[in-house]
Amino acid sequence: MVKVTTPRGRMLSGITPSGSLTLGNYLGALRRFADGQPAQEGFFFVADLHAMTTPHDPKRLRDLTTETAALFFAAGLDPEYSTVFVQSHVPAHVELSYLLECTAHVGELGRMIQFKEKGGRPGTRASLFTYPCLMAADILLYDADAVPVGGDQDQHVELCRDLAVRFNRLYGDTFVVPRLARAALAARVADLADPAAKMSKSADQRAAGVIRMLDPPDVIARKISRAVTDSEAAVRDDPDHKPGVSNLLGIVAAITEEPPEDVAAGLASYGELKRVCAEVVVETLAPIQRRYADLLASPEELEALLAAGASRAREQAEPVLARAKHAMGLPA
Ligand code: TRP
Repeated sequence: MVKVTTPRGRMLSGITPSGSLTLGNYLGALRRFADGQPAQEGFFFVADLHAMTTPHDPKRLRDLTTETAALFFAAGLDPEYSTVFVQSHVPAHVELSYLLECTAHVGELGRMIQFKEKGGRPGTRASLFTYPCLMAADILLYDADAVPVGGDQDQHVELCRDLAVRFNRLYGDTFVVPRLARAALAARVADLADPAAKMSKSADQRAAGVIRMLDPPDVIARKISRAVTDSEAAVRDDPDHKPGVSNLLGIVAAITEEPPEDVAAGLASYGELKRVCAEVVVETLAPIQRRYADLLASPEELEALLAAGASRAREQAEPVLARAKHAMGLPA
């Protein structure tokens, strides 16, 4: 039996390139990934294979994959501390995914909320059904122990844990069983036009309530100035009764790292709240947008960064895949 050790503090997460990244992706994910450096050993990838589980356009997928990868670096992921790569550059993901399809049960995959929501449509791709196996492979290949995801992904990480435990029981100790790392501040940024919904990158590119990381300052200011508020005209943090205002306060709070009540205390009107919010968002995104433009200006540099990331990822993933194949009875 192979001895599996848990490398403490190894963090892993992926973002599916299904739209231009939003302020929510930055505050809820990328910024946290970057802040964990250098203490945290991180693996962060663009989950391009996951963007093919629903009808997709090949050119748009290619463009979004490049854009997302460049934004990872621009947001501060440093190749010295973090391994940043594109999922499809590491074939072990697909290989292990198949082994996990041979571990998962049809019943448990059918119970996944995302599948239940989208799976009934005519023309549903088989990959939408098996997608949690690919996601489990993403995680298990890196012996990850912390997997920060948004709440809608908790169920998939739970399934990954179940599959790892089952595999270890059936075939011997092979995988590190990961834990869920819950997001702290601003885990959830809501859509400015519909504060009941999350700010989603896969919303229509022109959606008025979605701030993209690459939106120019005037567009950001306009979207925030049109954000839904309420008729009470009191700046106060009350997510249940004032979701629009609380969302704006939450954005400012996440950026300035103050409690939302303190942010509210300093502001007299919704107009002022929106001005401050636009100001801090623009200020936060400006340096990221500059680094992004620099990276796009030298595509060879981005390519080299991603090639190096993929090679480090393969080095980590291949022995784990070999361990799993051997455990299941496949020849060396
Ligand atoms: N499925 C995740 C999402 O839609 C992205 C993802 C793919 C992921 N593989 C992962 C997240 C592995 C964490 C770990 O948001």
